[in-house]
Amino acid sequence: MSAEMPANVRVNWPDGGSMMLPTLWLRDVCPCPDCRIEQTQEKRFHLAALESVSVASLCADAEGLKVTWSEGHNSVYPRSFLEANHVRDQPKWRPWSDDYSPGYFDFTTFLSDRVYAIRAIEEFLEAGVLVLTNSPTEELTLERLAARLGPIREVLFDRIHNVKVDPKGYNVAHTSLPLPPHNDFASYSWPPSVQALHMLANEATGGRSTIYDGWAVLQAFRQEDPAAFDVLCRVAVPFREFDDGNETFACEPIIRLNPNGEMGVFRYSNQLMQVMDPLNPDTAAFYDAYYKLSRRLITSPFNRRFRLHGGEILVVASHRILHGREAIEDAGFRHLQDAYFEHDNVRNMLTVLERTHD
Ligand SMILES: [Fe+2]
Ligand SMILES: [Zn+2]
Repeated sequence: MSAEMPANVRVNWPDGGSMMLPTLWLRDVCPCPDCRIEQTQEKRFHLAALESVSVASLCADAEGLKVTWSEGHNSVYPRSFLEANHVRDQPKWRPWSDDYSPGYFDFTTFLSDRVYAIRAIEEFLEAGVLVLTNSPTEELTLERLAARLGPIREVLFDRIHNVKVDPKGYNVAHTSLPLPPHNDFASYSWPPSVQALHMLANEATGGRSTIYDGWAVLQAFRQEDPAAFDVLCRVAVPFREFDDGNETFACEPIIRLNPNGEMGVFRYSNQLMQVMDPLNPDTAAFYDAYYKLSRRLITSPFNRRFRLHGGEILVVASHRILHGREAIEDAGFRHLQDAYFEHDNVRNMLTVLERTHD
């Protein structure tokens, strides 16, 4: 292939329709048993095996497209395959509506009932939030959620970690101070994408839980101030979380878009953000945009606050949803356990549950 325009194959169907297909794509997707591993449905043919790729002859008829390649291979493509939609749907998320309130689902039923679990996971993928009720108030109950959310995502801190007011705690969460909206482990280049917060006991006054639809806030911000939004997608910010035995650090932008330009990861943690280089001209631009976004965030209607009772588990899609806590006014006994999961595994679980018919 030369370095000019990528080559295309023009297909003219006998009924008059036509389509243009990239030549390399067409060779790559040959569905014949020599080019696929039938047992696994994987691709076997590797483009790199050919010194050059070009069409020797082709014929489009009612059944499909027959191509003889210059290397000698024959491919037959059903028309329905060539015309099929090869774009896989991504899970749909929806910004919270004005009357949104978190969906409550029973812990035991969530674990035991397939249809109920599908409904709960669908709600989670759309709203980014789920509250499980009537859970045991025993430690390590979060382990049981792996059956529905996939394996626990471990980080360098405890696999299931405790949040109590603790004068030796490594994080602001262990004080009675209010916790501004944040997601956990901004200090990882891939922070956990699902977080479960299990309230074992909550006899404290104050300390209501807060959640924010971060992506909804970002969408509105992007409309209002696209230049500032772009700065937050571009400028890398240092985050660090550490204790006596660990030191995690990542330097990443606050907003990471997916390749389609849609929301990917919102990384936001006032407490973990480190001092930026003031001599770097990006720092002033970043702060200008960060200040505007932060003002918008804390005054945003996309926030809900509620008391998380003993026996309730708040699950959030933590690349989207920020969480926080109002100040704890009086130190009645309050014990929370946290664990992380991964959004890919939750989506996997939905697919698996939907294709199981028992
Ligand atoms: Fe947190
Ligand atoms: Zn083939």
